[in-house]
Amino acid sequence: MNAGITALGTYVPEQVVTNFDLEQRLDTTDEWVQTRTGIKQRHFAAEGEFCSTLAIRAVENLQARYGENVLNGVDMVIVATATPDAMFPATASLVQAHFGLKAGAFDLLAACPGWLYAVSVAQAYVKSGTCKKVLAIGAETLSRVINWEDRSTAVLFGDGAGAAIIEPVQEGYGFKSFVLGSDGTGADHLHMKAFADCLPSGAKLSNKLYMNGREVFKFAVRVMDTASLEAIEKAGLQTEDISLFVPHQANARIIESARERLKLPLERVVLTVQDYGNNSAASVPLALQRALDEGRVQDGDNLLFVAFGAGLAWAACVLTWGGKQ
Ligand code: ACO
Repeated sequence: MNAGITALGTYVPEQVVTNFDLEQRLDTTDEWVQTRTGIKQRHFAAEGEFCSTLAIRAVENLQARYGENVLNGVDMVIVATATPDAMFPATASLVQAHFGLKAGAFDLLAACPGWLYAVSVAQAYVKSGTCKKVLAIGAETLSRVINWEDRSTAVLFGDGAGAAIIEPVQEGYGFKSFVLGSDGTGADHLHMKAFADCLPSGAKLSNKLYMNGREVFKFAVRVMDTASLEAIEKAGLQTEDISLFVPHQANARIIESARERLKLPLERVVLTVQDYGNNSAASVPLALQRALDEGRVQDGDNLLFVAFGAGLAWAACVLTWGGKQ
């Protein structure tokens, strides 16, 4: 049996924060942020909007696009997030309750590649017969964990959510390969506090996001193309067979470097970082939605997804779009 994505919905909060807005509260400039990252603006959740709110809005958007019945038969909800409403209950349970679904629910934490990890679990559930229809959501409220004392990270992040339905699809369609990796020796480069005061290395934890940008940049540039090439090979395809590259949107320079190494033409790359910044687990579904809305995805297209982040961890996958039964 093949499993694929049959529906997608997204949400970004109304409040837009431009680089010029950030100039008012940080020692930075629009020119620096755009040149180093490609980011022009990001969206921040309003007071009272939390991870579950964003996830629910993304599912409502899914219903608006595909009809109320799109949720019929959903028997598992997975929310990939590093910024949940609470440690428990799972944000996924709040989504399940909101829509009155007769489904299991759990959160998954794998930082920026989280949604691809969630999708990998979802398709394995479907293929094994454990579940029939899975709602795989990536949702983040990163604005709540920004360290405003650190201008090099404060300019990078935004809030948003994306929700996908994973279910059986016709022969020849669906997920063709997954590459899932982690190198926890890089844990010190990107972290945020939960219950310990420090990591095993002794690195002190704070309840705001910490990132060693240069180290993560080097890692990202390396892993984006190696994981992508591995996923393409595992799918039995060549780079030329990839119709669209949908990468994690952390930094336009990282995406450009991967595009060059993969020798993909510009028109086969989705870029949304300028509008949303880095939305961690929500970044890949938001980029995919943009491509769908722009009519850049046709039935039978091979899409390549790749993401990287805290762990350090990464994920890549190849999906043949379409084939809804
Ligand atoms: N405005 C103005 N100047 C700044 C800013 C800012 N916002 N931030 C840093 N600078 C300055 C620095 O102080 C430094 O000045 P100096 O040379 O006088 O010391 C100079 O700009 C260059 O700093 P670098 O850190 O070398 O800048 P770089 O080009 O590496 O860009 C960045 C920094 C954007 C953070 C980059 O390293 C990056 O994108 N890293 C990867 C981030 C990423 O992809 N994270 C994804 C995972 S996130 C997750 O999993 C939650």
